[in-house]
Amino acid sequence: MALSRIGVLTSGGDAPGMNSAIRAVVRTAASIGVDATGIVGGYDGLVNGAFRRLDVRDVGDILHRGGTILHTARNAEMHTSKGPRAAMRNLNANGIDALVVIGGDGSLAGAHALAAEGVQVVGIPASIDNDISGTAMALGADTALNTICETVDKLRDTASSHQRAFLVETMGRECGYLAIQAGLACGAEIVIVPELDMTLDEVGDVIEAAYARGKTHAFVLVAEGAKLAIQDVAAHLGSHDIGFEPRITILGHVQRGGSPTAFDRLLASRFGVVAVEALADGGTDVMTGLSAQEVVLVPLAEVVAGNRRPSMLAYDVMRRLAR
Ligand code: F6P
Repeated sequence: MALSRIGVLTSGGDAPGMNSAIRAVVRTAASIGVDATGIVGGYDGLVNGAFRRLDVRDVGDILHRGGTILHTARNAEMHTSKGPRAAMRNLNANGIDALVVIGGDGSLAGAHALAAEGVQVVGIPASIDNDISGTAMALGADTALNTICETVDKLRDTASSHQRAFLVETMGRECGYLAIQAGLACGAEIVIVPELDMTLDEVGDVIEAAYARGKTHAFVLVAEGAKLAIQDVAAHLGSHDIGFEPRITILGHVQRGGSPTAFDRLLASRFGVVAVEALADGGTDVMTGLSAQEVVLVPLAEVVAGNRRPSMLAYDVMRRLAR
């Protein structure tokens, strides 16, 4: 059956690039004669029937905006049979033949559950954590990384002026991707991530050695999911006479905001086109992914089987260059 109307929703934590993807979905649909409906408030909106029609003008002037014009939420019901069934009823009642879900691992698991109920659905990965299997990059991760770099560059000015050690906490849930990449891009002494066990003494030794080499500042990037708490690391450095005076900065939700980078806008545009084309070809239960610079379709069953782990190669390069 030919598509006549597709729905699009954003779900989970917002990520820069979601708006660019919404625009790409709506306009690609229009380019092949398919109408679009925006579902407001993620899966909550799907279950409760909060729908609004979107035409090509409704998605003007959003390519470069952070957040999501469709709003977002985290909805536990989608992981029970009740949620997908209510969603199916609302989609049918609104004449929506297929759905694009833009979000992180939980949202994509919801999309997989919808597919099992017979909804034609394609996912687009979006999460600053970059922990989604099946894609080298999720929307928002590049922008968040750039935000972290800008902030650490600013902290470096004051760190050097006072010869201090700054401990900077990055987001990422259980994934150390942002901390590792930012550690390499910002020249950290050491990065503490959930994927590696590290002791307070090891961290203390690295920072003390940096002081002994005459460094004017030291940066320790701590992923929020790491086993060592940032406060404990600061207390350890403060009480061990390592030379540098420690200070803590928790970046928090600033990492989720801001205008998407050109990389995220381009990726969102490519993902949006491929997602709608996949639906038009009858595809379902798949996600768009970036693999070796190409946009590919990955079965959602593979995506939800486990989270993506960050590259430890970047971690090793960071350690080698911190001297
Ligand atoms: O998954 C994105 C993320 O920003 C994580 O990095 C972080 O742990 C979490 O969401 C924060 O969630 P909330 O916005 O609900 O506080």
